[in-house]
Amino acid sequence: MPDSASKFCVVGDPIQHSRSPEIHALFAKQTGIELQYSRQRVKAGRLSEFVAEFRDSGGLGLNVTVPLKVEAFDLCQPTNFAADRAQAVNTIQLAGDEVAGFNTDGIGLARDLEDNLGLQLSGAKVLMLGAGGATRGVLPELLQRDCSQIAICNRTPARAERLLQQFNESRFALELWGEVRAFDYDLVINATSSSLAGDRPPLPAELVSQGAFFYDMMYAPEPTPLLQWVSEHGGHRQADGLGMLVEQAAESFRIWHGIKPRSVPVIREIRRVMQS
Ligand code: ATR
Repeated sequence: MPDSASKFCVVGDPIQHSRSPEIHALFAKQTGIELQYSRQRVKAGRLSEFVAEFRDSGGLGLNVTVPLKVEAFDLCQPTNFAADRAQAVNTIQLAGDEVAGFNTDGIGLARDLEDNLGLQLSGAKVLMLGAGGATRGVLPELLQRDCSQIAICNRTPARAERLLQQFNESRFALELWGEVRAFDYDLVINATSSSLAGDRPPLPAELVSQGAFFYDMMYAPEPTPLLQWVSEHGGHRQADGLGMLVEQAAESFRIWHGIKPRSVPVIREIRRVMQS
């Protein structure tokens, strides 16, 4: 790779397991664009300093992951609509003195659901599990795509209630953790980090038998605990979050390079590498 190749980076803490460098390398190969893309551990509170150094060294763009997305939002000016509604930034573009912030998580999720998995969000009744940053990042796009109802269900109900108040949106509802009452959801999205603890949100098996699609934003070589539970109850309509990861990266790539790469071959390749 020539030194003149444009420089990009993913930052977060922890960062060593990030797949973003592999994904962007595959996009670069596919589109014939030369770039360098590295990963860098940046601790909470240190993003501003790192971005200044990265820009001085010729860096053109960054992806931002946990726990820095809100810090990135505070740092960026201007920010796009998705970032403003989510109050979180996952993509930074550096141009001159400008540090522009975007949020591609919502579009990444929506494109995986609609374009890759063939679901229709318009009119869908959605059960959203979790009320943290991952949920906030994708809600604006789900609303934009005309979901008919989004019920938020979180282990700590006060956090879900706060989210409802912040968005002030008539299509939102609340479900209580462990006491989901409606079974006619079209789509159940797990945006909690419960899988990291080997755990899954408690749900009624009727959701599976009534044909809901289960999407877990986490991804791993093995099915996540929630997706295992779906299979145990005879459900086949499910996907993990690898497609979302690749789609949000594709949108970052489009912002930086002006070309939208094809995602499906990259999803297949990363899945193959993950499972080998
Ligand atoms: P992120 O930015 O990844 O969303 P976060 O803002 O810390 O991270 O939010 C984590 C989410 O996962 C929260 O909804 C959290 O629930 P609480 O608000 O009750 O903490 C949820 N979560 C984390 N571990 C969980 C577990 N073991 N079981 C259920 N929910 C869990």
